[in-house]
Order: sequence, then structure tokens, then C-alpha cells
Amino acid sequence: MSLSLAAEQPAPPVDAEDGAWLECIECGETFAPFADIRYTCDECDGLLEVRYVDLPSLDDFEGRGVWRYADALPLDSGVTTQEGATPLYEVPRLENDVGVEALRIKHEGMNPTGSFKDRGMTVGVAVAKELGVDRLACASTGNTSAALAAYGSRGGMETLVLLPAGKVAAGKIAQASLHGARILEVDGNFDSCLDIVQELAARGEAYLLNSLNPFRLEGQKTIGLEILEAFRDDYGAFPDRIVLPVGNAGNTSALYKAFRELVQVGDLPLEDVPKLTGVQAAGAAPMVEAIENDADEVRRWDDVETRATAIRIGNPVNAPKALPGIRETDGTAVAVSDEEITDAQRDLAEEGIGVEPASAASIAGLRKLRADGVVTDDERVACLTTGHLLKDPDAAAAAGSDPQPVPNDTEGVLEHLHE
Ligand code: F0G
Repeated sequence: MSLSLAAEQPAPPVDAEDGAWLECIECGETFAPFADIRYTCDECDGLLEVRYVDLPSLDDFEGRGVWRYADALPLDSGVTTQEGATPLYEVPRLENDVGVEALRIKHEGMNPTGSFKDRGMTVGVAVAKELGVDRLACASTGNTSAALAAYGSRGGMETLVLLPAGKVAAGKIAQASLHGARILEVDGNFDSCLDIVQELAARGEAYLLNSLNPFRLEGQKTIGLEILEAFRDDYGAFPDRIVLPVGNAGNTSALYKAFRELVQVGDLPLEDVPKLTGVQAAGAAPMVEAIENDADEVRRWDDVETRATAIRIGNPVNAPKALPGIRETDGTAVAVSDEEITDAQRDLAEEGIGVEPASAASIAGLRKLRADGVVTDDERVACLTTGHLLKDPDAAAAAGSDPQPVPNDTEGVLEHLHE
């Protein structure tokens, strides 16, 4: 099975081009990476992964940001706005409060457009250029559309985004709009937007840049590489666990792929592989349901609801890649309530870290798993926070305190302060 943690580096097919090829995770069919436009397997419609003739070691990388890892990516350079190299914050109070040996926050909200999506787009948009397409498209709960709009316009291409009407945070729509995307508001949820955009892509109307696109996930793999390098430098060991919010399960799949490749080159011993731990909002938790029921497939939830609109997703399309990732790393998945998410958003804000609701799910999930004893007090943990606070100013304002009106003079202000 190609997605096993112990799988060996596969032999390249004869048509491997530029040191890489595409391989179906279900039937093993292989394809040249840039010969034609395809998102899934021609034979069985399974998900595709990029494979490399030569995998680099963690010690081979040079430079800063996503393109530091060019040797582990399908191209040497991309359409870039200097994405990646995000902070890995220490949070001593929160670490103490949660009760783990070490807790670090990998804040992906510090990317150029304010979310981890930039890491995927710098690669995906460059591949689109290589393929010679002129129109890019995605369905989005907001962040993907912001990143696609920015990177697409930087790459000189038209962008089309399909958003669930009324369910996308204000900051994200503003970004997609200013960066020049054509925004279509669909009277449906994210999952139906993705169904439509997949059909548009299949009909040749646009190049699809959702996380079904295997090249995008290659860029997102660099989150894992950065975390592993930093833990090795700071603690002399890789993290025991990485906790992350889950929507379409693209990041879960990408981190797992980073681990598998490091195992294959001998940099990551099997017993040191971090436990991938996914967190979903209780109102949109099909992955958690599948993990809890030990199911092979994820059941699509037609009705989803959560304040964390970025992960308001009922049909995680990357589940066939992500379920083995969680299981093979001995990780787990957990659901948290909207109240727990908002509390975690406040916890992070107290440490000076501003995140959008979906991002805070990782901390909320960690708290819950620590309270349940699933996470133990000797663990070193990295939590991923995926998007910046300003993405969703309404949620931030609702979670914070209200401004207080005061008179326009010092005495009046003092009187108010001493009330
Ligand atoms: N966190 C944030 C802030 C997101 O925007 C997303 C996904 C996720 C987590 C989930 O990541 O899909 O890799 O499991 N947002 C997509 C979008 C769906 O359209 O912006 P995943």
C-alpha cells in the first residue's frame, strides 16, 4: 500500500519527467506530471500524489520560506510573495495551563495573505503557468480564494472563485475582491461549490486549485518540514504530536506526505513520527466520525454549521490520504464546540497571537485531548494556527470586549476610568 508509513521509495516509471511523476494512491497508475491537465486518476478517479526520483534529506535545504524546500517540490521556483518561514511561537502560560512538556504555535496566519494557503498557491499557480492555462478557479470557505486571487494575479492569470453565499468572513472576501478575482456567490455550502468547480474544471473552463490538486499539497508539505527542523534545532527531537484544524484534510494529507518522504530517506525513524491529530468543529465533523467508527470511508454531511466558517465542510475530499495519515501515525481526531473554539481564540490572544476561529480549533482540541488523558503531560506538541485574526474581524470583535464611549475631554475620560 503506497500510503503506508513504512512504504519504500517507489521506482520511477519510464515517463518520469523533470525528476517527478504523478501516481494514483488507489490503483498505482502513473502519469507524467506536466504533460496534460489532470487532477485525479484517469483509470479509477483516485487521488493523485507527486512522487520524486530523488528525495532530499532534511540537511540538504538552503534558503528561507517555501522555496527553501525546492528539492522536495515539483518545480525549482514559483510565483512567490515570500510565503512560508512563519513563526513558531513559545506560549509559556498556555503550555503550563494545558499541561504539556512543550507547546509551540506554528502561526500560518503570518503568511502574505494571512493563511497557509499561500504555501500551496506558490507551487500550484507556478504549475498552472507551466501547463499554459490562463484561468484559475477554486471553491472556497474564503482563505483559498484570497490566496488564489493574489497569486493568480501576480502570475498574470484570470481567477474565478465560488463562495458559499453569506458564509465567508469579511476579510477574505475583501482580499479576493481587491486582488481582482471574479467572485461568484453560490446559494449552497462549500461542498456544493466544490462539486460545481470540479465540473467546470472537467469541462476545461478553468484550472482547479483546490487541495484536490496534488501540486498544491506539495507546497503545504513545507509546514511540516519547517516544524520538524525547528523542533530538532530547539529540542534535539521532533515533536511528539502535531495538532491541526481539519476541513478538506489537505494539510493533514500534506504533513503525512512530508513524514513519509523523510522516513523514506532515513531522516525520520518510524518511532519518532509525530502523531497527526485533527480537530473539527462539532457541527462539521465527518472525519472525526470516521476515526471514531474506524470507518474506511468518510460519510458526507449535508448539513454543516459552525462559527469557524473556514472549516464548515461536510465532505473532506482528501480523506483517502488523511485517514491513513492519522491512523498510521497513531494520531486521532476530535470535535470541539464553537464555545470551546472561541475560548481558545481568547487564550491565544492573551499570548499576543491573533487567529481566526478555525485556527483556534487546534488549541481547543489539544485542551480536550489533554483533559481526557489522550495527550500526556510529557508530550512536546506543535499546534497549527492556520489563519490570521483579521480574516474574520466580526468573530474577533464578538469574542473580545466592546469599545466604551466616553466624552471628548480628559475629565470625562478620567471619570469614566474611575467609575
Ligand atoms: N483553517 C483555515 C483557516 C482554513 O481556511 C482551512 C481551509 C482549514 C483550516 C482546513 O484546512 O482543508 O487543509 O483541512 N480552508 C479552505 C478554503 C477550505 O477554502 O479556504 P484543510
